Amino acid sequence: MNDRIPLLIDTDPGVDDALALLMAFDDPRHDVVGLTIAAGNVGLEHTVANALKLCEVAGVDVPVFAGCASPLLHPARDAAYVHGRDGFGDIGYAKAAKQAEAEHAALAILRLSHEYAGRLLLVALGPLTNVALALKLDPALPSRIARLVVMGGAVTGHGNITPAAEFNVYFDPEAARIVLEGFPHIDLADWEATMAHGFSHDGFERWLQADSPKARFYEAISKKTREWSSDRRGDHWHSADALAMAFALDPEGAAETLERPVAVELDGRHSRGATVVDWRREGGAADNCRILMRYDQARFEARMRAALGA
Ligand code: RIB
Ligand code: CA
Repeated sequence: MNDRIPLLIDTDPGVDDALALLMAFDDPRHDVVGLTIAAGNVGLEHTVANALKLCEVAGVDVPVFAGCASPLLHPARDAAYVHGRDGFGDIGYAKAAKQAEAEHAALAILRLSHEYAGRLLLVALGPLTNVALALKLDPALPSRIARLVVMGGAVTGHGNITPAAEFNVYFDPEAARIVLEGFPHIDLADWEATMAHGFSHDGFERWLQADSPKARFYEAISKKTREWSSDRRGDHWHSADALAMAFALDPEGAAETLERPVAVELDGRHSRGATVVDWRREGGAADNCRILMRYDQARFEARMRAALGA
């Protein structure tokens, strides 16, 4: 057994997922033992194909497991308007040679949690459908997971898909509630932390000039998303999944975190998918989330740059 930390990533690639995955592949302290794929940014067929292609471009041999094609209960709209219809900027890349494994993502999560019991770092970068399904199949799953990091939520209600909700939670709020109620300790990197850790488009574009297949591929698949972001959010870009992955790979880079009870709202015309934080701890619930408030920006940017080979 090598002393690297086994890392399982549940993801809905997605342009920012792709950057987070490149960061994980680049980190020598972690061993990516699998990618379990969710529907979210775009449909499952595309997110699976994108995961396989990214592994091929990055030159890594990581098993990919397809998960649920839709949320647990209610259908939800995707984020193709941000990532492109195929989730990778509609560049028409040649499909990867490899195919996904036959095993369902939820079953792979359970199997790998046994294989790496007590050591597995699980990072969720998309809607929590697969993780929730695994938890329903085996409520003892959290006892075998060393650490769960989730990209999701908007802890003071500044959402990105509705005024109150962030995309991953909003896409499958029932799954998010199951996970936040089923795991006693979750490291949460939310949308508001994402927006507080932007980085300049100009600087990022300089990294993309690196002479590496990863940089060239990422430049192509992210072009549409970067243009969309620049038009709407100005001279800084934001990568939710990359920040969550930095927190996962390098928790020592977190400059400020707060532990609080966090619940998921399922109802309400304006509130469905909201992550409601009991900031004054009045409800008596346990602190189930360690919320990332501030991360070392230089360490964050250094990891993204290295992931691109820049
Ligand atoms: O709200 C941002 C999150 O939704 C990111 O994970 C992005 O990839 C989308 O899944
Ligand atoms: Ca994602």
